Amino acid sequence: MSLTITPATPVFCARVSGAHINKPLDDAAFTAIRAAFDEHLVLIFSDQPMTDEQQIGFSERFGPLEGTAKSGVNPGAGTPFARQSNLDISSGAVIPADDRRMFYQKANMLWHADSSFKAIPSLCSVLTARVVPPQGGATEFASARAAYASLSAKEKAEIEDLVVEYDLAYSRGLVGFTFTPEELARMAPVRHRLVRTNKANGLKSVMIGAHAKCVVGWPEDASRTLLDDLLARATRPENTYRHEWREGDVIVWDNQAAVHRATEYDTTRHQRLMQRTTISSGAATAL
Ligand code: OGA
Ligand code: MN
Repeated sequence: MSLTITPATPVFCARVSGAHINKPLDDAAFTAIRAAFDEHLVLIFSDQPMTDEQQIGFSERFGPLEGTAKSGVNPGAGTPFARQSNLDISSGAVIPADDRRMFYQKANMLWHADSSFKAIPSLCSVLTARVVPPQGGATEFASARAAYASLSAKEKAEIEDLVVEYDLAYSRGLVGFTFTPEELARMAPVRHRLVRTNKANGLKSVMIGAHAKCVVGWPEDASRTLLDDLLARATRPENTYRHEWREGDVIVWDNQAAVHRATEYDTTRHQRLMQRTTISSGAATAL
């Protein structure tokens, strides 16, 4: 297999061709993909339609999959997948716009990093495009490695040892979504170091986005100013990439050095099914 890796922007994201990631990969091919992931943070593959088993097989090359909720508001609940979709998993019917499951997904339109609110943060996500609407529904990515790199040496030193609290109830609250008392009882804020270091290349980034509630020990306004400033740096136009999906596309993204967000589509007129596996970083990178 000969892989070709083509940067999608001068800053981050790359298209990978020549890889059949829906088939078992030999170690040399996966090593090249993993190195490209560590370098570019977001990898885009085209024409790789996948069954559920193939998606799990490819995802597990990066590490163990996170557990998923048996029931709940994500349309993938009860499967190993998170689904960004307006299709009911059992009937296939379009979920009405005022359904709680659709409201929950609105929060995906805020810049975020998947599972930063979990006790063990995620290494990366793998999203496969199963059903793509004819218009809208693009996904945008931004580099939190570029955000870190844009800081002065003094600013880097100031944030080096900060600990941030991440909280799903907080981030969903930003779009007016509220959890039931039973749901809230199963979740608690977590703490992680803000500055993340890629083990393969030593490059640093910041784990930011909607779930990042506050800097532990800082006054609320200073904390908000810092987290907002870091996100503004990450999402400068030159540090972003927007992906218009085609069916069979697969994107792998880093959850500690990049953020992403969903964009609008007409959920009443078009169908969309994007299926995500989330790979855990393992206990070693938790605080
Ligand atoms: C996700 C996500 C964005 C989208 O799957 O984690 O945020 O455009 N997806 O569906
Ligand atoms: Mn996401």
